[in-house]
Amino acid sequence: MFTVVVANPKGGAGKTTVATNLAGYLAGKHQRVMILDMDRQRSATRWLARRPRGFPEVRGALPDAEGSAIRDYRPQWLIIDAPAALHGAALAELVRRADAVLVPVSTSTFDFEATADFLAELATLKPVKEGRRALAIVGSRVDGRTVAAADLDAFLAPLALDVLTHIRDSQLYVHAAREGLSVFDQPRSRAEELWADWPPVLHWLQRLVSTKAAHR
Ligand SMILES: Nc1ncnc2c1ncn2[C@@H]1O[C@H](COP(=O)(O)OP(=O)(O)OP(=O)(O)O)[C@@H](O)[C@H]1O
Ligand SMILES: [Mg+2]
Repeated sequence: MFTVVVANPKGGAGKTTVATNLAGYLAGKHQRVMILDMDRQRSATRWLARRPRGFPEVRGALPDAEGSAIRDYRPQWLIIDAPAALHGAALAELVRRADAVLVPVSTSTFDFEATADFLAELATLKPVKEGRRALAIVGSRVDGRTVAAADLDAFLAPLALDVLTHIRDSQLYVHAAREGLSVFDQPRSRAEELWADWPPVLHWLQRLVSTKAAHR
């Protein structure tokens, strides 16, 4: 099982959007995918409840029943939708169990400030400090060709972190979420433009999965 934690303590950074779309993509590739919903708002769980029959299956788990859910389904991917305001021991524990940590970052000043604190805290955690934890940033609700994207790059440059990709702002994400879908569940004619933002994330994860398999 490969565990991806999607985290940023800033509310509305795009965690659930990244988690659910990644889940939808992987499920569409015939992978067994489970979302562990650690957010009390239960946005991912509600998304799953809205998911129509006939689309690639994504299972859900809640923290209380996580162990048995994982044992029963044996997911290949566990995607953890982390709660807002995550820090301290809870953050350390999630990073410990993650194979990869994805940090979606929106491009307002407030988001940068909150994310800077979060990245500073992440950098103090042992697996990150020792370079044993894959960590990547995803620009959230930002077009790669805009000033906002350049601002994000400038914000990250001193931290020696790259932006894997910019996920553009589109109402299709909002519509898909309302229907329990990912943009990968939507027809090519509607969503193809949005799919183009995702390959860097998918390739990054694929490389990490291959590396993990090689070390087993
Ligand atoms: N790329 C996007 N384009 C358009 N809307 C988006 C995009 N990403 C996120 N949103 C919208 O922004 C809002 C916040 O996103 P989301 O719920 O994914 O963030 P979050 O980090 O999970 O928030 P919370 O901290 O409350 O859990 C939602 O209404 C979502 O539909
Ligand atoms: Mg959320």
